[in-house]
Amino acid sequence: MPNAKIVGIGHYVPDTVYTNDDLAKHMDTSDEWITERTGIKERRYAKKHEETTTTLAANAARNACKDAGIEVEDIDFIVFATLSPDYYFPGSGVLLQRELGITKTEIGALDIRNQCSGFVYGISVADQFIKSGMYKNILLVGAEMHSMGLDYSTKGRGVTVIFGDGAGAVILQPTDDPDQGILTTHLHSDGTHAEHLAMINPGSHGGYHLGKEQFGYEENDKPGDVFITQKMYEEGLYPNMTGQLVFKTAIKKFPEVINEALNATNLNVENIDLLIPHQANLRISQFVQKTLRLPDEKVFSNIQKYGNTTAASIPIAMSEAYQAGKLEKGKLLCIAAFGSGFTWGSALIRL
Ligand code: COA
Repeated sequence: MPNAKIVGIGHYVPDTVYTNDDLAKHMDTSDEWITERTGIKERRYAKKHEETTTTLAANAARNACKDAGIEVEDIDFIVFATLSPDYYFPGSGVLLQRELGITKTEIGALDIRNQCSGFVYGISVADQFIKSGMYKNILLVGAEMHSMGLDYSTKGRGVTVIFGDGAGAVILQPTDDPDQGILTTHLHSDGTHAEHLAMINPGSHGGYHLGKEQFGYEENDKPGDVFITQKMYEEGLYPNMTGQLVFKTAIKKFPEVINEALNATNLNVENIDLLIPHQANLRISQFVQKTLRLPDEKVFSNIQKYGNTTAASIPIAMSEAYQAGKLEKGKLLCIAAFGSGFTWGSALIRL
């Protein structure tokens, strides 16, 4: 059975830099608060009406293809992870296929909706398809255009300051070398806290899972008749998050799932050459680093520049680490993520 190997990595971030001070012009926040709580100094925002999640993804995909030395026509399957798709449906996979001009071969396109864990889930899916011999050139993309769905008033500050736009992509191919490529992947979920890091509209829930008190439904709201509620029209669309619950659960699950991958491969923390955690919050990454006792040079962070780009954060970080010469052949890369769902996962990759 072949292993799946990463043969190309690329990323794309929009040009527009939005600093913490820029955000403070719209909401009651400060550079000091954001930096202290999250480590984020700035993020990128895509050009509204000119760029979309799919166009960001296409730029990253072209860069990954170039790095892999293949043409977009060589791709035989697309896996697209995002929580901010261009449309509610169809998913962004088919839009990326169209954007890249892969129309003749009618390859399959799969959308992954696992938010911050989306790329890790995608790696696992791609790995299985390659191991089974079904595909030979999989394009896996994580891309987000959060800037279109955030609340820039003070009410939204707890969420808005964290997120940014961007895209990252990898190309996976089979290898017969058993010591190279994706060595192991581990995926988990726990729906207990699903609404605590969520955007619940548009959806078919009709208030079914939700306590009125908790999520502020008023008597006159009539969710459920249609996907879009009256409340949504009145108050705009924005995600909600119980930040402290997310934080506490994340710092527990990250080390757990990384250790799970190490145990499955009989490897130790010392064997990891580089850990790329999902860039959720610098403090979360620092906690994980401390728990695992990893030195600074073995943990990659770029959240200071981009904020949390959800499904795009790991591949963007991989691409930057690669460009910085940190992902040479033979190195052991660990990627791990935790996010909405809650879902979390890890992978160990021998480059
Ligand atoms: N600027 C200024 N003040 C803010 C603010 C902002 N952007 N956001 C929230 N506040 C205020 C709150 O209103 C609250 O004020 P109060 O005490 O008067 O009520 C105070 O700051 C503390 O809020 P709290 O939510 O308790 O802050 P916190 O220390 O938990 O930090 C997060 C908030 C979001 C940074 C933190 O909980 C976190 O990082 N959680 C994990 C989030 C994450 O990683 N999400 C992605 C998962 S993939």
